[in-house]
Amino acid sequence: MTDSITSTWKTVWTDAGSAHDLQDGGTGLRTLIPGPGGEVSAFVVQFQGRAHAYLNRCAHVPVELDWLEGAFFDDTGQYLVCATHGAMYEPQSGLCVDGPCKGRSLEPLECRIEDGRIQVRRQQRAQHES
Ligand code: FES
Repeated sequence: MTDSITSTWKTVWTDAGSAHDLQDGGTGLRTLIPGPGGEVSAFVVQFQGRAHAYLNRCAHVPVELDWLEGAFFDDTGQYLVCATHGAMYEPQSGLCVDGPCKGRSLEPLECRIEDGRIQVRRQQRAQHES
């Protein structure tokens, strides 16, 4: 049995790359952000003119969605897809609409553009691990 651990981490804006590198319904940007126990993978995509950021962690099994770096969208450019078992997520909400974790969601991140750069951050909060 593992002791319960309470940890917190600072909410910081993290650079994810140039906003010009985002393609609507196309290649996304990956970055690492602070999290409980160390850095965690995150990504940003653009859909219908807006940027959306999530932790790069499938709601089915906690693995990264993209096998090819930045390839988060399916062939139609309408859904984010997990390369492991094919879960499909709405890019604007992170909700899984098809696949083994249907009805669950990706963890959304805050996202902003500063001087042409995409920045993301996670809300600061207490995290309980066991
Ligand atoms: S790990 Fe993503 S669908 Fe199974």
